Parts: sequence; C-alpha cells; structure tokens
Amino acid sequence: MSDKIQTLSGYIYEYQKSVQDPEGFWARIADSFYWRKRWDKVLDWDFEKPEIKWFLNAQLNITENLLERHLFTLGDKPAIVWEPNDPNEPGVTLTYKQLHQKVCQFANVLLAQGIKKGDRVIIYMPMVPEAAIAMLACARVGAVHSVVFAGFSASALADRIVDCQAKMVLTADGNFRGKKTIPVKEVVDEALKKADTIHKVIVLQRTGTTVTMQEGRDLWWHDTIENMSFDHSAESMDAEDMLFILYTSGSTGKPKGVVHTCAGYMVYSQYSFQNVFQYTTDDVYWCTADIGWITGHSYIVYGPLLAGATTLMFEGVPTFPDAGRFWAIVDKYKVNQFYTAPTAIRALQAYGNAPLEPYGLDSLKVIGSVGEPINEEAWHWYHDHVGKGKCPIVDTWWQTETGGILISPLAGITPTKPSYATLPLPGVQLVIVDNDGRELMGNSVEGNLCVKFPWPSMLRTTYGDHERCRSTYFSVYEGMYFTGDGVKRDEDGYYRILGRVDDVINVSGHRMGTAEVENAINEHPKVVESAVVGYPHDIKGQGIHAFVICDMEGRSEASLVTEIKETVTKIIGPIAKPDKIQIVPGLPKTRSGKIMRRILRKVAEGDTTNLGDTSTLLNPEVVEVIKKDAIDLI
Ligand code: WT7
Repeated sequence: MSDKIQTLSGYIYEYQKSVQDPEGFWARIADSFYWRKRWDKVLDWDFEKPEIKWFLNAQLNITENLLERHLFTLGDKPAIVWEPNDPNEPGVTLTYKQLHQKVCQFANVLLAQGIKKGDRVIIYMPMVPEAAIAMLACARVGAVHSVVFAGFSASALADRIVDCQAKMVLTADGNFRGKKTIPVKEVVDEALKKADTIHKVIVLQRTGTTVTMQEGRDLWWHDTIENMSFDHSAESMDAEDMLFILYTSGSTGKPKGVVHTCAGYMVYSQYSFQNVFQYTTDDVYWCTADIGWITGHSYIVYGPLLAGATTLMFEGVPTFPDAGRFWAIVDKYKVNQFYTAPTAIRALQAYGNAPLEPYGLDSLKVIGSVGEPINEEAWHWYHDHVGKGKCPIVDTWWQTETGGILISPLAGITPTKPSYATLPLPGVQLVIVDNDGRELMGNSVEGNLCVKFPWPSMLRTTYGDHERCRSTYFSVYEGMYFTGDGVKRDEDGYYRILGRVDDVINVSGHRMGTAEVENAINEHPKVVESAVVGYPHDIKGQGIHAFVICDMEGRSEASLVTEIKETVTKIIGPIAKPDKIQIVPGLPKTRSGKIMRRILRKVAEGDTTNLGDTSTLLNPEVVEVIKKDAIDLI
C-alpha cells in the first residue's frame, strides 16, 4: 500500500510534509478511500470554540470502505477470525464476503426495528463476531453506536443510555469469561428500570443462560435475522456526521461521551494501523483489547478492516485455561502482530517462563503495548521472551479522545528505547508546556503534553455538553489540545509518557476518575466522606487506595470495607473496586476545605517520611493517624 512508510528517512520526510502542508498531506492519504462525494476543503479548525472539521462536505460510508472496497480483491480473505473462551469450542472465520453479508443483514434488522440515521444504539456484548457486526451495521445505516464494556454495572450502563438517549440495546444472554459466566442480559434488564428511552433490545444467544424476554421490547438476534436480506445499500454520511460515542472517565464526576465522526476517524485509523504495525497482505493481526474500549474500536475493528487485514478476536481471558493461553493462540493462528496492555504483560510475567515454553511464537513479527506506561522490566521481558529478541515493540501512546495512535515507533523503522513511545506519527504536532502554558522548546524537557494542530481522528465534542469538551481539553492551555498526561522529551527528542497529571488514575490500562470512584463510595449510607488516590501497583500499574470517613456506629471496620467494595462494584463495576480501603477519622484539608491529595498520594505510596509542608493544614493531627494506619494495609 502506497501510504505505508518504509524507512526512517521516509518517516522523517513524511513527517515534515505533514507539518508543512497538512491539508495536502491528508488529502493524499484520503485519496485511497472510496468517497461518494469528494470533499470541498480538507480542514477547518478553531481550537477556541472548539470546532474541527475534516474533509468538509464529503459523503461516504465507512463500511463501504472496509467491505465493498475490498470485496473484489480480498473477498475470500479472512476478515475476522474468532477464538472462543473455551479452547475446545470451534472458532469462527468470516471472510470479507461473509462479513459484508452479515453486516448488510443486520443493517436491515436495525432498519426493520425502527432505527434511523442519527439514532443512538448501545452495544453491551461479549467479544464475539456479532459485536463487530453490530458496530458495523450501525455505521452502515448511520446510527451512532456507543459500545459499553460488558464489565460495567447496570447503573453505569443506565447512566450511559440516559446520557445519549439511546433507542436500542444490543446484548447477549451471557458472557463467558474464563471459568465464569456473566449474566449480561440480567444487567441490561436492571439498567432499563432506570432508563426509559429504549424501544428494543436484541439479544444474542451465546451462553444458553435463562433470561426473561420482555414482550414487545426484547427480541432474539437469531429471530431478527431470519429471512432478512443480505442486500443493503449503505447510508450516505456527511464527513462530520457522528460515527460513535464512547464514554470515558475524566477528573470530574460523570464519564463523558467522546464523539468521533466518520471521515477523519476512518482516514486516521487505517493510516495509523498500517504504519505502526507495518501490516503486510497475508499477516494475521491480533489485538487483545475489548471492543468496549477505544483500542477495540480503532485496532480490532475499524483500522484493521479498513486496511483489509485479518483481525483476530478473542472472547476469553489470558489465564484460562492456563497462563499460556495467549501464546497458544499466537501459535494456533500464526499471529504476526500482537498488541496487548502492560498490565497483561506483567500479570503473565509473574507466572514465570514455564507457560511460554510449549510455544514457538515463531510467527510473531511485531509486538505492541498500549494503555499505560510500560515499565522497563516488563518491556524487556516482553521483548526477550515473547518477541524472542527479534520483534520490535511498538509502545503506542494515545487516548479515547485521540481516536488513534499519536506517538509510537513504526515497527522495524523507528529505533526503540525501553519504555519510550518514541516519536509522533506524521500529522501529529506535539508540544510540551509548563504549568503556566509556556512552550518548552528543544530537547531534555519535561512538562504537560499538548497537541497544537488538529489530526483527523481527534474528538469533536463531548456528547450533549460541548462546553465540557472545551473546558476539559481546549482551555487549560490556550490554543492547544491538552492530553492530561505528563511527558518527557529526552536528549534525542524521544517522548516518554510519565502518566496522568490530573485526577485520573490508570488501573490495568483502564481510566478511572478519582471523583467517580469517590461518588460511588459515597453512595454507601455509612460513608461521610472519601478521597481516592492511585498508588504504584506491581501488576495493575496503579491501584486504588480509598481513604474513607465512616459513621462507625454498630459496625465493624471489616464489614464496612467489604460493603464499600460491593457498593463500588454495583455503581461502576469490578474494575473500579478499591484495592485498599482505609477508614480514617478525617481527611487532611487546607483552610479553604480542599482535600490535600498530595499528602494522601504520598501516604498511599508508602512514603510517609517525606510529606512536605503540612503546616498549612486545617487538621495536621489527622495526618499522623492516617500515616500510622496506612502501614497496616501494606
Ligand atoms: C490514557 C488514555 C488509548 C488506548 C487505551 C487507553 C494512558 C495510553 C499509553 C502508553 C503511557 C499510556 C495515558 C492516556 N496511556 N497509552 N503507551 N504509555 N501511557 O485509552 O482509556 O482513553 O486512556 O492512557 O495516560 O492519557 P484511554
């Protein structure tokens, strides 16, 4: 493919072109796509408002670009290869032709069930091919999908349904996860008690779990597709029509619905996929993420399929039936590009090298990392034992909001450095600013990571609340998109991500707002106040430490701790469950009543000798008690 960079000097040349003439650069990349109508202008932007438009007035459908565009040349090539949770259950392979049929068929189902262009559809499904089919069928009819990770609780699901006023939920009877079966439909039923915009629920039969089907509302997936035609002509979409909403956590309470639009997302997800992973025609590519996260959207579904790749989807977990499962799958399908998260790498590393021994892993050419900083030890283990010293590691930095990878080595082209995401992709103009917003020029600097020029797959708004988008991302530093991450640019100009500089913590690669977890904790009737901070965790990257003031009357500490954990699981989901809960008599506060998180972070890190100045506190005595009690938790 002509847009694929082949050499380091090629990268430098393309990067320079993308900065000197961004519109010409992206127009050239966009030329290889199928447009129903070409754009009038490549880019219009204003970071103050913010208003960002790419490929103005173009008409397209993203599914025509990942299905019809490939049918003639790649029709019989596997598009999706699916490996079930149970290694003894047969997998499924869908060729591009078959995927096209299934997407068209389900697009017809959506229309028959009253879905129209612009309607929001929630996808709350296990990792099965139908989940990808559901996303693509939505895109095909112009409905806006919002995938909700199937590990989120009923209450979190309800919040998302209400926020985007969705009309339909696509789900399954259950979800196989290792030895467990999770009753997904039951969660949907619970959520729908609190969300009344849903007209229809379509339920895929996966686990055979008994479910209650509500007359007039709930339909079986297999019934809806019966006799449904494979012919469907894709809806024509404006370049800036919404493609999907994906909720993500920020430093303030409620998750926000990050909005991505059709054309820019399409162009960038394919371009970044091809270049970062250096995919070639017959490769088998595997990303272990869940489609509930942006990684699953851009690098399981859209990017690879747009590029005509074979993308593997795995339903299960890395440790079932044993800690060699990932490697068994790599050998079984001869996976060439493997993309996972540091938390999975560290968890598997903890099992030692024995689970790797039965497997050759000879097919691997590129191994990738995403979601959180990868520490040097994990980087080396991944490099030496999974990549056998011969596979470049692509440490890819990006966010739900960026839609695609912004900083990463191009596999085999960019020289790597352990724990460095290395260099920006073409089109990505990074800046590092100090806390006053002054740009730090040159190398060997450290500060806040911003982007000063638009790239095609950047977020356009946060659903239903544009002001929130402006104030979160575009007003912290004037005229720039602020990522929320701290970063270092070293003496070679290489970027190393240092982690979040806001009140967001990253637990196993999942983004968690401390305020969101606090709100959930505060739902417990005995909780008076709480403060949540992250602390370094060997496997998860960061763990959650909650300091909680409780009304202890008639209650034991142990039972309160258990109940608070249950409350968080119920309100958000198991991923937000605090690792440590410390019942405290008070929280360190400034005279103006603000919680001094800096002190709590230090305590949670176990660094109690170096708390800095506590003399300005309203209640310095509380720090002594918290310090002492924290030691018991370690
Ligand atoms: C945050 C975004 C983008 C896919 C998954 C997470 C952190 C992401 C890296 C990396 C260091 C990373 C950042 C970022 N992050 N990738 N390679 N090195 N940190 O998406 O949930 O939107 O989270 O994840 O802190 O801001 P997300």
